Amino acid sequence: MATSKRPSPVDCLVESEPVREAARALIAAVQEERAGRGLSARNYAKCIRELERMRGRPLVYPMLTSGEGRGARVWMADGSMKLDFIGGIGVYAFGHNDADLLETAVVAAAGDTIFQGHLMPGPEELRISRALLRHAGPNLKHVWLALSGADANENALKMIFQKHAPAEKIVVFEKAFHGRTMAMAELTDRPAFREGLPQKGNVLHVPFYDANDPESTDKTLAALEAHLRRYPGQIAGMCFEIIQGEGGFNTAPREFFAAVMGLCKEAGVAVWVDEVQTFVRTGELFAFRWLELDEWVDVVTAGKLLQGSATLYTKAYNPRPGLVAGTYAGSTVGMAVGTRLIERLEHEGYLGEEGRIALLGGRIRRRFQSLAKRMPRTVGDVVGIGAMMAFVPWNGAPEIVKAVLEAAFEEGLVLLGAGSNPGKIRMLPPVNTSDEELESAFACLEKALARVREEHDLPC
Ligand SMILES: Cc1ncc(COP(=O)(O)O)c(C=O)c1O
Repeated sequence: MATSKRPSPVDCLVESEPVREAARALIAAVQEERAGRGLSARNYAKCIRELERMRGRPLVYPMLTSGEGRGARVWMADGSMKLDFIGGIGVYAFGHNDADLLETAVVAAAGDTIFQGHLMPGPEELRISRALLRHAGPNLKHVWLALSGADANENALKMIFQKHAPAEKIVVFEKAFHGRTMAMAELTDRPAFREGLPQKGNVLHVPFYDANDPESTDKTLAALEAHLRRYPGQIAGMCFEIIQGEGGFNTAPREFFAAVMGLCKEAGVAVWVDEVQTFVRTGELFAFRWLELDEWVDVVTAGKLLQGSATLYTKAYNPRPGLVAGTYAGSTVGMAVGTRLIERLEHEGYLGEEGRIALLGGRIRRRFQSLAKRMPRTVGDVVGIGAMMAFVPWNGAPEIVKAVLEAAFEEGLVLLGAGSNPGKIRMLPPVNTSDEELESAFACLEKALARVREEHDLPC
C-alpha cells in the first residue's frame, strides 16, 4: 500500500514507519497495563447488573468485554472468552484487536480533532469519500457522511422527498428494517419497534421475493403496480435491501430486483438501496454492484463496517443547500479506520467472485452442510452470502431460536437471531475468519444444538 511519490497531508500517516512504530509502542503499553486487570466473578456480575440498571433493561447477553481480543475471539472482563460471530451486529470487519487497524486508529487519534464536522473537513473525510466513490459505479457521483445507518437513511429519504415533492409516499418490502429514528421506525416492518409512536401513514408495502413461490416476482410487481395506480404521482421512492438483514437474510435473484427497480424507473419512483448491513459482506462494497443493478440505482446508504455512515447519490438527487447538514461528518478515527479497511479489502484479495469474502460464505455453507448430514432435522434452510450467513434451527419457532442462542452463548459462541416465520440464527463473522475459528465456532454450535435437542425433546 505504500506509495513511492512524495507523501502529502492527505496520505494516511500510518504508512510512515516511525509513526507506526510509536503507535505500536503505545498499543503494547496499553495491552501490558491491561493484562491482569480482570474482575472477580462477583464484581463482573455486579458490573453487568449495574449496566442493566442504568439502561433500565437486561443486556441481550450478560457481557462486559475486557478490551482483549484476537480475531473472532474476545475476552470478557472476568477472563472468560467468547467466539464473536456477530461483531457488534456487523461492525468489526477484521474481528477484535486487528493490529493494523489499531495502529491506524492510534495514529488518527493523535491528529487534530476527535470528531470532524461538515464545516471543516480533514484529510480523513477526503480519503473515505474517495474510497467510497471508487466502488460506487458510474452513476453515483456524490457522498454525504453521517454517523449511524439511520442517519444516512434519513438523509437519503430527505433527498428523495425533496426531488419528488410533493409526492409523500415511500414503498418498502415486507420484513424490511431501516433503523430506529421516527421515520425509519415507520419504514421498518416491525410494529413492535414503533409501539406508541405517532405515524404519518405514508409507507406502502410489497412482498419480498419468495424462492418457494414461482409467481413471487409477479406478485411483487402486481402489488407495486396496485400502489402506483392507487396513488398516482404520490410515490417518491422505493427502498431495497439486497439481503434483508434483520428480516432474516432473505435475498433474491438479480432478475427480481431488476424487474422491480425497472418498474420504479418507468413510474418515476426513486430507487434507494439500503446497504447498511450488506456493506462489504457480499464480497463487494455494495451488494447492488455485485448484482449489477447500477443502471437503476439513484441513492445508496452504507454503515456498520464503514465505522460511520454514508449516503451516496446521483447528480439528480443532490439536494438543495439546507436540506442535509448536521454537526458531525464522523469521528476522525472512524473515518481513518473505515478507509484503511476498504484499502485492505482491495489489496488483500477480499473482493470479487473469487475473493476471500465470497470463499468464506462457501466455507460456512459447507460446515452447515456437514452438520445437516449428521442432524438433518436440526439444520433447516441455510441462507446468505459471503460474510452474512444464517440458518433455521428445526422449525424456526421463536422459543427454539432463543434456546439455541442462549445455549450457544453458554458454550462460548455469540450469535444473534434474525427474521421470523421461520426465525433464523445469523452470523456476521470477521471477513478474515480462520479455519480454526470456524472449526471452534461450529463445535460450540453443535454442542448447543445437542443441548437444545435434549432439553426440548426435538428430533435429530
Ligand atoms: C439494513 C439496515 N438499515 C439501517 C440500519 C440502522 O443502522 P444504525 O443502527 O447504525 O442506525 C440497520 C441496522 O441494523 C440495518 O441493518
